[in-house]
Amino acid sequence: MGKYTFEQDFEGWKEFSALPIHERLPLFFREGRIYDVLFSQQFDRAFLDALYVLTNRIRRIAKSREGMLWLHGLHAHQRAMLYFVQPSTRTFLSFLNACHILGFHTSEIRDPQTSSEIKGESPEDSIRTFSSYVDLIIMRHPKEGFAEKTAWLLNVFSDRPVPVINAGSGRDQHPTQALLDVYTLQRSFEDRGGIDGKVIAMVGDLKRGRTVRSLSYLMKNYREVRILYAAPPAFQIGEDIKEFLCSQGISFEEHDSLESVLPEADAVYMTRIQDEHDVQGESQSEYAEFSLRREHLERMKPTAVIMHPLPRRGEIDVMVDKDPRAMYWRQERNGMWTRCALISMIFGSDETILEEGERFLR
Ligand code: CP
Repeated sequence: MGKYTFEQDFEGWKEFSALPIHERLPLFFREGRIYDVLFSQQFDRAFLDALYVLTNRIRRIAKSREGMLWLHGLHAHQRAMLYFVQPSTRTFLSFLNACHILGFHTSEIRDPQTSSEIKGESPEDSIRTFSSYVDLIIMRHPKEGFAEKTAWLLNVFSDRPVPVINAGSGRDQHPTQALLDVYTLQRSFEDRGGIDGKVIAMVGDLKRGRTVRSLSYLMKNYREVRILYAAPPAFQIGEDIKEFLCSQGISFEEHDSLESVLPEADAVYMTRIQDEHDVQGESQSEYAEFSLRREHLERMKPTAVIMHPLPRRGEIDVMVDKDPRAMYWRQERNGMWTRCALISMIFGSDETILEEGERFLR
């Protein structure tokens, strides 16, 4: 019954969406601040550095009861909507809890079968309806570009625009995952000169995985990073990402085995097979060799880190979890704090947290 299929055609959207990205980006900023969070190309180095200082500050404030209660008061007068109509565990929960840490009241739709979309209401009209009630919309949607369309729609057509955060859009982007991934890399390499000059291996289904796409875009903010893409040839990274890397002078290599990238990598970023996108079971036989097992660990640098956006299946053996280089559970926890900082930056409470929050530090 019309689920995701009834798309409305708004005058001006086709023309806007055909513009190059640098011409579209200004619409999603306001008064020098990020407003809608849609793609990784929105984040520059100054933004990332500021976001991570704020993330660290929020974490420290939240360690005490008094600090946590103070954070709860910052946005207690505001409301957020989580519209997640594609499955999610950690992105949904980390955003929900980030909102609660900052005091937002939240509401959610996770299944359009329970909303008026079942009666044929378009997803666009659903989003406009949310904006009547809340101050922030966080959305995961199966359709590439839909988060941008709704952000454009609210900015151009609505008399009550609210910020939109893309929490995963089809096979396209997952920009807030990239924010927490880079935060994890930065913390991991804190005593070794940061991310500059590091070799990052990205492994698995690179063609259909949105996290590697968003993370690749963010690498433009760091000097002399080298990316090693390891995947079966049919699932290598897309041409658009390679063109982007070439345009930014970022060095990358394509490999067809996991073993070949392990000795050089400072970070090994494993990803899941995205077999929900299979048409004829094409994932079935390709991936056995793209699984990180205990015997691989001795081939890695002693200082390397192992990351994964999760959820995982067989691509990291559970025996790897005990290795001190396994960073993925910490990476998952980092998500809630970076998302707190991001929301705070959108709403302008970042300065208050940095100035007035000082008193809660121990
Ligand atoms: N990393 C990630 O997006 O996980 P979920 O699908 O569980 O949100």
